[in-house]
Amino acid sequence: MTASTSRPAALRVAILVGSTREGRFAPVVTRWIKGHLDQREDMDVDVIDLAETPLPSVLPAFGAPPEPATAEALALVSPRLAAADAFVFITPEYNHSYPASLKNAIDWHNEQWHAKPIGFVSYGGLSGGLRAVEHLRVVMAELNAATIRNTVSLHNAWGSFDEEHGITEPASDAAVKTMLDQLAWWALALRDAKAVRPYAA
Ligand SMILES: Cc1cc2nc3c(=O)[nH]c(=O)nc-3n(C[C@H](O)[C@H](O)[C@H](O)COP(=O)(O)O)c2cc1C
Repeated sequence: MTASTSRPAALRVAILVGSTREGRFAPVVTRWIKGHLDQREDMDVDVIDLAETPLPSVLPAFGAPPEPATAEALALVSPRLAAADAFVFITPEYNHSYPASLKNAIDWHNEQWHAKPIGFVSYGGLSGGLRAVEHLRVVMAELNAATIRNTVSLHNAWGSFDEEHGITEPASDAAVKTMLDQLAWWALALRDAKAVRPYAA
């Protein structure tokens, strides 16, 4: 028997941009991370920017269908989350946690997160958004997701890029590569496992 040399199909990675704030710094970070993903042959990327696809903050009653306008808003986000093999969350730190806009998008969904890995890119002041990430780990465990150990965190993020929005610290590029390599390992392992045995939450 000869070993198969065919490469696995590219992983579908959804970048979820958590900040929706006016004047936000998120686009600079997102462009940098998307650049990394664009260079990888093992990943196809979809950027889901919650500022461009806002979701209402009022959830329907249990068992009730969403209002038509809500269903329309969800249709721009939910199928893309469902199609993803893995996620990269880009989150700032707000008051020692992550933004309400990101929690809202998480809470609108459930099985879309199941048995999928999540890598984190965080930014903020001195803490680099690490507290936001640790809060997200707890929340995403409840949703049957697998969070990646290595993170990318930008301390005083606005000082981490030059005028052309290029990252100034090579170690940050190295951190992205490590995180994405770990994300790929988990995404492939989980995709293979689910092909044999569907995940039962
Ligand atoms: C409501 C709010 C709370 C914040 N709280 C923190 C915080 O607890 N720790 C921190 O490091 N930075 C904090 N910051 C600074 C943000 O991390 C920083 O402004 C970052 O650029 C926000 O991301 P955004 O511009 O993409 O929205 C806060 C900013 C806002 C708007």
